[in-house]
Amino acid sequence: MSDIFTKVREASSALEAEQLLTPQALETFRIRYLGAKGLIKSLMEEMRDVPNERKREFGQVVNALKQQAETQFQAAKAALETQAEQSATEQLDLTAPGEPLPLGSRHPISITMNRVVDIFKRIGFAVADGPEIEHDWYNFTAMNTPEDHPARDMQDTFYVVDAPGMLLRTHTSNVQARVMTTRKPPIRIIAPGRVYRNETISARSHAQFHQVEGLYIDEGVSFADMKQTLLYFAREMFGAPKIRLRPSFFPFTEPSAEMDVWLGTDTEENCRLTKGTGWLEILGCGMVDPQVLENCGIDSRQYSGFAFGMGIERQALRLFNIPDIRLLFENDVRMLQQFISSL
Ligand code: DAH
Repeated sequence: MSDIFTKVREASSALEAEQLLTPQALETFRIRYLGAKGLIKSLMEEMRDVPNERKREFGQVVNALKQQAETQFQAAKAALETQAEQSATEQLDLTAPGEPLPLGSRHPISITMNRVVDIFKRIGFAVADGPEIEHDWYNFTAMNTPEDHPARDMQDTFYVVDAPGMLLRTHTSNVQARVMTTRKPPIRIIAPGRVYRNETISARSHAQFHQVEGLYIDEGVSFADMKQTLLYFAREMFGAPKIRLRPSFFPFTEPSAEMDVWLGTDTEENCRLTKGTGWLEILGCGMVDPQVLENCGIDSRQYSGFAFGMGIERQALRLFNIPDIRLLFENDVRMLQQFISSL
């Protein structure tokens, strides 16, 4: 019996002897005395062995011990905190250079796209845009590619299961239909944006990429206007001395062409990019098919126009000498940081 009282007294002297000089010592102290399995808790449990007439007394001494432990704990904790603050202030070196704020940079795709847009803005093209989740009609049907048309095969895409008729646009040409159905000619727009195709991802192609679309509709717009506009672009963008138009087919233009720019074969890089031919293919173009004008409510007897659509990734690879298209989408900062100076 008196053993238990002795235990409490001993504990009290043990407490006084504790040196709580480190956070670790403080924590050990807390667990040893105040914790759920600590000494004070276990003394409380021994209460049942104390005869009834001494229970009250025992309760008081154990409580006093608990108070003592808590006070000691709080005091040591406060002291340690003050100490930590003081040493932090002492270590503060006001002459040290500041932490550098990491500076963001534009993505190479944005840089390339902005350059294209700027070049066309200078000759009066305004920026337009349209949705990436698009209705079948704007992406295909209005652009003279009705359902079951074989040209749809070349542009398989992702369809929205819960919304019949909705898909991820396969090209920025949907913006042509969006603009022509809502505005009257003259129309002179440039439409940069993201597009999607159901394609296997490799070093040269991706299921998600970027295009810039152009559209010019007015009275008397001719193929010669298109050619001169695109030559101007090739000169500004690549410093190319000449372009080449090869006959091609697109459902929404008639006649249609693909345009190559002359980079030459003087450097190894140009040889690689042009596969040794000196010509880099960058866009599709043509005179807007009268059927497309009619689909969008524009009188094809009064108006004519040209359109073009170009991929951005290939131009970015060429401009920045990037070897693999996937690098453009991984967003590894070590790669992206290199473009800070190209803002
Ligand atoms: N939309 C075509 C594609 O993604 C590119 C294109 C070709 C756009 C000719 C045009 C055009 O506006 O006239 O392959």
